[in-house]
Amino acid sequence: MSARAIVVTAGKGGVGKTTTTANLAVALAQRGNKVVAVDADIGLRNLDLVMGLESRVVYNFIDVIEKRCKLGQALVHDKRMRDHLYLMPTAQTRTKDAVTPEQMRELCDQMREQFDFILLDCPAGIEGGFKNAAAGADEALVVTTPEIPAVRDADRIIGMLDSMGKSPTQLIINRYRPAMVQGGEMLSPDDILDLLAVKLIGIVPEDDSVIKASNRGEPLTFKRDSPAGEAYSNIAARILGEDVPMLSMDVRSGRGFIDALKAFLGFGA
Ligand SMILES: Nc1ncnc2c1ncn2[C@@H]1O[C@H](COP(=O)(O)OP(=O)(O)OP(=O)(O)O)[C@@H](O)[C@H]1O
Ligand SMILES: [Mg+2]
Repeated sequence: MSARAIVVTAGKGGVGKTTTTANLAVALAQRGNKVVAVDADIGLRNLDLVMGLESRVVYNFIDVIEKRCKLGQALVHDKRMRDHLYLMPTAQTRTKDAVTPEQMRELCDQMREQFDFILLDCPAGIEGGFKNAAAGADEALVVTTPEIPAVRDADRIIGMLDSMGKSPTQLIINRYRPAMVQGGEMLSPDDILDLLAVKLIGIVPEDDSVIKASNRGEPLTFKRDSPAGEAYSNIAARILGEDVPMLSMDVRSGRGFIDALKAFLGFGA
């Protein structure tokens, strides 16, 4: 076994990195893979809550790096997925500079033999926290919402991942609202793809069930009875190489709008 290590990143805060990590971890585990979701957001621990495992956290990966415990002691087993899903928690009381990229790489290398997938939930920003999380990964998933600031931050992150040699880097568009796109009030997936030099792997609709699921600590992909849960399951299938058709993308805002936007943002100039 030698895991595929994938960092889930964005640049911008609050666009859905943690939600994406938790749901993809469950969806990949449901497909028979052994998965560890790593909370790489040191100091702002969240993934344990979204996965509903907060009461079981004892150690964290900084304890492993600083040799206060063994790797297996820090891993939290999600019993709902019988030996397929684990969480590697982070520390709540440390700062992003508590570890180095080299230490993160070593930690991930230690986990590679035990898992099929290592998903790293990245902090917002482009500084040390991002660089640490990305250091452990081979591939990247960049999450953006269909909003101009998020797309511009995604462009910056894609450039950085490219120069770090992370491949493939694929895009998830989150909180998509078709009615707003139709009304010309939101960027369409095609508009976003015109702006970013990256391949799209999935579109997740705006869905109130996401918020309810986060509060319950039960990622939507456990049940797959919601549009966002279905979207995350499809993304997991595409990660595994399955050919799952994409949500319809034929809604497109006017070219004039996009060209003006590109010029404004300095894209493709
Ligand atoms: N598709 C969606 N539909 C509705 N709400 C969503 C969706 N995706 C995420 N959210 C909500 O948006 C908020 C931010 O999501 P999340 O914590 O996953 O973002 P993040 O990128 O990890 O944030 P941070 O940068 O703070 O780590 C949460 O309240 C979450 O429930
Ligand atoms: Mg987060």
